Amino acid sequence: MIATWLKESRHIVIFTGAGMSTESGVPDFRSKRGLWHGKDPQSLASTNAMKHNQKEFVDFYRMRIEALQNVKPHNGYNILTTWAKWLQLKSIITQNTDGLHEQAGNINVIPLHGTIRQLHCHSCGVVYSTERYFHGHLYCNCGGFIRPPVVLFGESLDSNLLTLAEKEAQQSDLFIVLGSSLVVSPANSFPIIAKEHGTKLVIVNQDQTPLDSIADAVINNRKIGDVLRDISEEFII
Ligand code: APR
Repeated sequence: MIATWLKESRHIVIFTGAGMSTESGVPDFRSKRGLWHGKDPQSLASTNAMKHNQKEFVDFYRMRIEALQNVKPHNGYNILTTWAKWLQLKSIITQNTDGLHEQAGNINVIPLHGTIRQLHCHSCGVVYSTERYFHGHLYCNCGGFIRPPVVLFGESLDSNLLTLAEKEAQQSDLFIVLGSSLVVSPANSFPIIAKEHGTKLVIVNQDQTPLDSIADAVINNRKIGDVLRDISEEFII
């Protein structure tokens, strides 16, 4: 059924969360082995943590940056590249900051939550290499604190990216969620916006999500890589 929808669709949008990267060895946040398991995200990934818990904040992001050094996009990312070539896949809205969509050559990626592939000054915005976090050089020449350009809890998303993602959700006729618990707003509003515009909504997520009840198709308890492979095998592209 999903393969048929893919073939018939004129504007496919893929929406990914941390579950898209776990098969590449990057932990997600809220499943049993996730980064937030037994931790308070506000104490590590918030503006408050950046100001008042700086050592733990830097250690947390240095650990995540270091973990990316030997990580490669799994075959699921390559399948998305193929879909963009042979089908009407128009954009990938991602909550992920690991840069794996870009590394895999996926096109039209909308990185809602930014990236941990570089750092920048919180005050003047000058971009720095992540190396700064391995040598303890935490301050910019302007005196500002150097941090990853990600959306911390307590910060707003980039308005241009929000507008782009909303337009894609409204124009889509097939919206496929891959690996998100869909509990963080405003990112979790895009599947709803798509559905409100009559789009077919597909959710592929090991655990159940709060939006499963409005989806046209839900695939729980299966790995994204296997699901994408099986769908692709249903048509020769
Ligand atoms: N195949 C299918 N589903 C998977 C896989 C997999 N291989 N691995 C994990 N999952 C599912 C988990 O069941 C989980 O429900 O992916 C989901 C990931 O959910 P979260 O860990 O909550 O990640 P995400 O939805 O991306 O979080 C959104 O929260 O902390 C913030 O900024 C952070 O962008 C992140 C946002």
